[in-house]
Amino acid sequence: MTRKLHLTGFVKPAGEYPAGWRHPDSPPAAGTDIRFLAEQVRRLEAATFDAVFLPDLTGVPDVKPDVLERLAVVNDAFEPLTALSALAPLTERIGLLGTVSTSYSQPYTVARALASLDHLSGGRAGWNVVTSLNDAEARNFGADAHLAHADRYRRAEEFFDVVAGLWDSFDDDAVTRDVESGRYFDPDGLHRLDHDGEFFRVAGPLNIRRPIQGRPVIAQAGSSGAGQALAARIADLVFTRALPVEDALPHARAIKAQAAALGRDPDHVLVLPELATVVAPTRAEAEDRFAEVRDLLHPSVALADVEYWTGTRLAHLPLDSPLPPPADSNASRGAQAEIYRQAVRDGLTVGDLAREVAEGDGAVIGSPTDVADHIEQLFTAGAADGFTVSFPWLPTTLTAFTQLVVPELRRRGLFRTDYEGTTLREHLGLGRPAAR
Ligand SMILES: Cc1cc2nc3c(=O)[nH]c(=O)nc-3n(C[C@H](O)[C@H](O)[C@H](O)COP(=O)(O)O)c2cc1C
Repeated sequence: MTRKLHLTGFVKPAGEYPAGWRHPDSPPAAGTDIRFLAEQVRRLEAATFDAVFLPDLTGVPDVKPDVLERLAVVNDAFEPLTALSALAPLTERIGLLGTVSTSYSQPYTVARALASLDHLSGGRAGWNVVTSLNDAEARNFGADAHLAHADRYRRAEEFFDVVAGLWDSFDDDAVTRDVESGRYFDPDGLHRLDHDGEFFRVAGPLNIRRPIQGRPVIAQAGSSGAGQALAARIADLVFTRALPVEDALPHARAIKAQAAALGRDPDHVLVLPELATVVAPTRAEAEDRFAEVRDLLHPSVALADVEYWTGTRLAHLPLDSPLPPPADSNASRGAQAEIYRQAVRDGLTVGDLAREVAEGDGAVIGSPTDVADHIEQLFTAGAADGFTVSFPWLPTTLTAFTQLVVPELRRRGLFRTDYEGTTLREHLGLGRPAAR
């Protein structure tokens, strides 16, 4: 079978671009409008995307008030599993994938919610396992500061094992519902977990039968060493930042090699870099379109974004100064390393990095051919198995991708023309894991 692209729609209803919510086409209250969200997801489904992905933070980040007040996404967004549960009966085939933090949740609750989502969607649930990013999130859960990097990844490893164990509480054939004998289930097919570890004590069993997919699809987006190690062990999908092909290829190879070393089939670890696009029939029209939103961006927002992802204070520096040494940040190690690597290699100043964010942060702005060429190049090089497609503002850039890029990808034989299965695992070509 020829290899096919996998596309996940990374939907922030207020738009990925920080000023996206201000665009005249974008309803300003999109962040918490379920009708608007459902409309977007049905468009992705009509375009046979594998899944919609809803990200999450567990708090409002510590950003300077004059920047914070300009941001829609971090201030007003649905909790993902709640929104995905609402979307389940409004959609039929598309996978429903959401972020849940292992640092600020309990495994029993998460196992139960995801098993429920899998049942109520007919086997379409997915979980982006994140360790969270900042102190503001920690402060909502009884701590003053974010768990240290190594600790939160150890917790994530154990968290996942508990959740996966709980999903296997009932054997697939254990729930017999034998009305005649009066036995709802076969007691031999029910397993307690009795987990007693460094972070969690969980007896089990889970009070819901095994998920339809056996195990909901697992995504992971950490790119530090510990993040990659976790992804290599547990992830079906690996979300990465948008990287130039010379960085994306070794990154994808490294994760697959680590998975293979653990005895996994590297073809079942699908690497999906983020891809933002602004597409229009011609490149000039796409550039004009992007200018509409770029002109709405307040300059302080772009610089704050660079500070956020590098975990390093920059706003006090002149724009033409080189990047200062990276701060000892407890935020995303992977993002910090990737930005610094690029900045050092290309000799970028503080102002250059802010300008890059303002210019779309790696968004591909062009014609359907431009975007399809970019996708095909990374895909055929083996640097990507597909993409986590994000949308700078909605609905315009989402509609344009589905109407202009998807037909071009199909014409090139790179993307499916219809769903072949019903579950998210089937869309991704992944088997149903046996119970442990
Ligand atoms: C496509 C994509 C989606 C992400 N979604 C989330 C998210 O929803 N919540 C979150 O806390 N972090 C999210 N992240 C950030 C990563 O999880 C982040 O890099 C990680 O938390 C830090 O891990 P690291 O130190 O291993 O890099 C996302 C990253 C990417 C590339």
